[in-house]
Amino acid sequence: MANIVIVGTQWGDEGKGKIVDLLSEYADIVVRFQGGNNAGHTMVVNGRQFISHLVPSGILQNKICAIGNGVVVDPEVLIEEMTYLKEKGIDIGPDLLKISDKAHLIMPYHKAIDIARENKKGERKIGTTGRGIGPCYEDKAARRGIRFVELLDTELFTEILAETLDEKNFYLTHYLNGSPLSFDDIRDRYLGYAERLAPHITHLSAFLSEAIGNRRSILFEGAQGTHLDIDHGTYPFVTSSNTVSANACSGSGIGPKVIDGVIGVVKAYTTRVGQGPFPCELLDETGDRIQQTGCEFGATTGRKRRCGWLDTVLLTNAARLNSLTGLAITKLDVLGGLDTLCICTGYEYRGQRLSDFPSNLKVLAECTPILETLPGWKSDISGARSLSDLPDEARAYIHRIETLTGIPVQIVSVGPGRDQTIVIDHPFGSQ
Ligand code: GDP
Ligand code: IMO
Ligand code: MG
Repeated sequence: MANIVIVGTQWGDEGKGKIVDLLSEYADIVVRFQGGNNAGHTMVVNGRQFISHLVPSGILQNKICAIGNGVVVDPEVLIEEMTYLKEKGIDIGPDLLKISDKAHLIMPYHKAIDIARENKKGERKIGTTGRGIGPCYEDKAARRGIRFVELLDTELFTEILAETLDEKNFYLTHYLNGSPLSFDDIRDRYLGYAERLAPHITHLSAFLSEAIGNRRSILFEGAQGTHLDIDHGTYPFVTSSNTVSANACSGSGIGPKVIDGVIGVVKAYTTRVGQGPFPCELLDETGDRIQQTGCEFGATTGRKRRCGWLDTVLLTNAARLNSLTGLAITKLDVLGGLDTLCICTGYEYRGQRLSDFPSNLKVLAECTPILETLPGWKSDISGARSLSDLPDEARAYIHRIETLTGIPVQIVSVGPGRDQTIVIDHPFGSQ
């Protein structure tokens, strides 16, 4: 029995979905603890692709999946996702999908505000996913959000909605030059969602606590990545939740003593969607090549991901912020065929080597990466299933990441499929 947290170490899209799906086999419950449907997690099993935005990636392994209080839930998207999974033969009834009664709801005005604000900002936009994530977390912090527990109380829900919508419509029409939203339409739709989702709504903290008492194993599935964290990321080009491992606790209602390990998922190179500084970005043919070979398009918005060399400044920052106990390297196969590879080992700012990841974005934007060159490999490694199947150069690359970060590599992924994986040291112990 073990309780393991999986987080992204970079700017999201590291391949967390694949790793969570793989490890879910050994867990009893898989919990999402933050973010919302800004996430897009891809799983490929027997050649079939599944993308989940809200339902935890343990669902394909038929595990109990839970959406924690730290998640912001668009109920329309959740119901659509449940229908999508049903069409693919996965029926998620109330025994399999639990939703925290304390999770906040993304409302239509959150989406409208997110989109209208980004349009108004023009060049200075953040490049959000437009899913209403920021405005929903804002309302949570301002204590005017609506949680599932309020949604289930028709009278209370109607009262809060009327009061809030008044203010939102004023802001939408008078400040953002948008159109007002209809109270009746939102009330009717949301009361319909309430009916549909009611059997899934649970006191999740109590449910998880009982499971832990019964020595069940829990896998906590992070969304986004460490450098999109609202406190520790490249603020303001971040998302609106804490993406680091500590939030697995507050975002699901358990204490830190029950966590046994934290796996940081790291793409073998770096990508980023949306705006914000990216010191290792490659704006040349190599960047284009990685983008194309790695099929680097956002799983949520379809936007092209910006690509660059692996940045171990990000990784050491992530190791400290998350107390990483192991790394899962993904997409190593994508780097095949390059003559040489570079790894960023530090940042130079105005002639000085920086010792820490800068908090000041102007400094970060001016940093140049200090690059180390390593030999590449020519062969296709997507069929490798053990370290000894890899060419020496690929093993040397993995070893260099371990040395630079001081964190052991436990898993190496060499393709999108569940089976395209090398497990060096199983996070759930000897399996
Ligand atoms: P997540 O948001 O962290 O779950 O990652 P995404 O699903 O947004 O993006 C990762 C993409 O890489 C998906 O299309 C995966 O199917 C794919 N992928 C994951 N691991 C590997 C791998 O080792 N090799 C290759 N070629 N693709 C991978
Ligand atoms: P997964 O879980 C990559 C980025 C957006 C934008 C910023 C803020 O699939 O790794 P938001 O809509 O959250 O207010 O947007 O964060 N972003 C992601 N980038 N992967 C994600 O999730 C992301 N979720 C949000 O592109 O730059
Ligand atoms: Mg993604």
